[in-house]
Amino acid sequence: MDSRGSRAVNVEDLRRIAKRRLPRAVFDYIDGGADGEVTLRENCRVFESVRFRARNAVAASPCSLRTTVLGTHIDLPFMLAPVGSSRLFFPRGECAAAREAGSAGTVYALSTLSGCALEDVKAASTGPVWYQLYLLGGRECATAAIERARQAGFSALVVTVDTAVAGQRERDARNGAKELLTRRFWAMLPHAGQFLARPRWLAGFVRDGGLMRFPNVVLAGSGPMQYADVGAALEQSTVSWADLAWIRDAWGSAPIVVKGILSGEDARRALDAGADSLVVSNHGGRQLDGVVPTLQALPEVVAAVGGRAEVYLDGGIRRGSDVVKALCLGARAVLIGRAYAYGLGAAGGAGVARAIEILRAGVVRTLRLLGCHDITALDASYVEIPRDWIR
Ligand SMILES: Cc1cc2nc3c(=O)[nH]c(=O)nc-3n(C[C@H](O)[C@H](O)[C@H](O)COP(=O)(O)O)c2cc1C
Repeated sequence: MDSRGSRAVNVEDLRRIAKRRLPRAVFDYIDGGADGEVTLRENCRVFESVRFRARNAVAASPCSLRTTVLGTHIDLPFMLAPVGSSRLFFPRGECAAAREAGSAGTVYALSTLSGCALEDVKAASTGPVWYQLYLLGGRECATAAIERARQAGFSALVVTVDTAVAGQRERDARNGAKELLTRRFWAMLPHAGQFLARPRWLAGFVRDGGLMRFPNVVLAGSGPMQYADVGAALEQSTVSWADLAWIRDAWGSAPIVVKGILSGEDARRALDAGADSLVVSNHGGRQLDGVVPTLQALPEVVAAVGGRAEVYLDGGIRRGSDVVKALCLGARAVLIGRAYAYGLGAAGGAGVARAIEILRAGVVRTLRLLGCHDITALDASYVEIPRDWIR
């Protein structure tokens, strides 16, 4: 890895390195959120309002970070969330991230909107791999992707339910994301400077084949979906609870994870519709701005689920102590999005490995300072939450 990447002490360091290596439009695509970015900021801020109640002078013994998700053993209590277009951050980005997740003994979840074929991503990882589903291209197209994922050996299907339309990410609009996708010279020209200013990234991008199509969204008649068509396609592919029935038929008996739950009501609806586990998620503040930050929504969802299913959380995880707080409040495990995407943008697979190591070491240190040596023993007695979180 680039020596600066290996010296990154925390996720914010990886973020800064990614900002220096990536063109502005690509960095802001990772870093930005919807509208005023209120939920994006709040996702991180709420971790600060949860306090630990440490048990000191507890005999030290090796810490165990092992747990199970959907019956599969993983070596870390965090997994890699679906992050679309990772191939823009680094050549063959999805394969690189999946490889590092597998080496670390955890799950990689592949986005429908990825630049690498799902079969290649599965082959790149030695660990469990999940497929995240958008209904892009309609039911037939989605059914074909589900069948491919099943055949390739993906072990769970993640159905994201918070993306009825793409959120308005103002940074993308300012950076000319729409114009850059027109492939029209005069429309692109005012925004081209940001790419020329990052020659190392540009050389890798060109070597990797330039602007990718989406090889897992194969449209009848026209082949893999073009990058420019995503916004319109998302609007025509809203998922509803009723869709879970045919998705279940297509996927078979393997687990379905519903991602994008923020209330007890939706948690119950998802379970009634056939979900095997849930992700408390607001898409990292990229969709509806102003929704509740995920850590704050977690207790309500955990209470509504009442032990019937595993509940995971994503949003705002930047430190090992954040992982531990979410586990204390009832998450079985968490998913990280930007924390590893910054690593990928900073230094490819080596940057992802660094992000994972920073978080792993942070979880171990936090456990030892808390006086708890097994993540499966964490519970609400290790934290204090603000009174107004309890409804
Ligand atoms: C650049 C980027 C692209 C994303 N693409 C997808 C996607 O294709 N599908 C999906 O379900 N979630 C997607 N997400 C949301 C993540 O899966 C996850 O919910 C979010 O990143 C968690 O917040 P965090 O980034 O603060 O960890 C994306 C997030 C980012 C940052």
